[in-house]
Amino acid sequence: MKFLTVFENTPVSPPPVWMMRQAGRYLPEYRETRARAGDFLSLCLNPELATEVTLQPIRRYGFDASILFADILLIPHAMGQPLAYREGEGPVLEPVRDRAQVARLAGDSAERLSPVYQTVRNLRAALPAEVALIGFAGAPWTVAAYMVEGRGGKGFVAARRWAFSDPDGFQTLIDMVTEATIHYLLAQIEAGANAIQIFDSWAGLLPASQLERWVIRPTRRIVEALKARHPQVPVIGFPRGVGPAVPAYCAGTGVDGVSLDESLDPAWAAQAVPAGVVLQGNMDPQFVVAGGPAMRAEADRILAVLAGRPHIFNLGHGLVPETPPEHVSELVAHIRAPVGAGA
Ligand code: CP3
Repeated sequence: MKFLTVFENTPVSPPPVWMMRQAGRYLPEYRETRARAGDFLSLCLNPELATEVTLQPIRRYGFDASILFADILLIPHAMGQPLAYREGEGPVLEPVRDRAQVARLAGDSAERLSPVYQTVRNLRAALPAEVALIGFAGAPWTVAAYMVEGRGGKGFVAARRWAFSDPDGFQTLIDMVTEATIHYLLAQIEAGANAIQIFDSWAGLLPASQLERWVIRPTRRIVEALKARHPQVPVIGFPRGVGPAVPAYCAGTGVDGVSLDESLDPAWAAQAVPAGVVLQGNMDPQFVVAGGPAMRAEADRILAVLAGRPHIFNLGHGLVPETPPEHVSELVAHIRAPVGAGA
């Protein structure tokens, strides 16, 4: 698999390509399947339909990797925390704000996610042999931030306040999510996932002084647990928004690859991130909405800067619902065009 070859410290030209949120609302076939499923959670927990939506972007674009269709909030859902996805509002949970509420959560949550493991088995059987299957989970900080806040979008002030005012109490929640995530990711690997990505979408909300405790340490614990059983399965971290802390994140967690958000200069990352770490990224998703020459020029810039270094082409964050699907085809074709073939 071309996607796995880059983790053998071998640059591949053109690089393997996939895109965060490659399955999603910008695709008419996704909207159709989602309507059949009813709500978003039912879609995530229906192996037949979740397999279908994972395969849709592979059929359309022939990406080098597929990502399991699921959501980072399935862990709190499996822990028994009431969760709903509201149209236009995003996820809403019943907040967990103290140790007593943490104690009421179910510790054996990963076992409740068996439909997800069935989806992974279906996918590994259905995918072309050359397409890698990426399993994933949210990082403990990002998942706990949603659990405490009860929703996204407001800077997660309740989560930050709890972490700063009662770190030992907040640690009980982080530890519980960390253990559940380890079981969940091990089960995904054992069902057939070829690589893992850990999404720390809100790592950038923490001050630098807090990254070690809430971002790096729990992620290292997950990486170590996965490596102990499956040393050959690459783990990619996505510490979104941490800026200059990316190298420390890589060194401190032991990830095999790091997904760069669009704020980072890939030239800086190529210098600052240890050479053994695969760089993934990092086009601004709005370039894919723009399309045309601007998108192609930005792709060329990223490809040129990261040529010669193991690189996986991706975006700095997920495809947005406004993306014209034909711009994605145009981008994939452009990345795969022989060098010097022109715009
Ligand atoms: O194609 C893929 O990338 C695989 C599937 C995937 C989804 N969510 C599907 C989804 C993955 C990898 C995720 C991860 C995820 N979920 C993250 C981390 C990545 C990131 O975006 O920062 C986060 C923070 C979540 C939590 C979440 N799920 C939010 C905040 C929302 C609402 C915002 C939105 O985009 O609608 C979701 C819903 C969600 N997860 C959708 C999809 C396709 C949209 C649901 C719909 O069909 O209405």
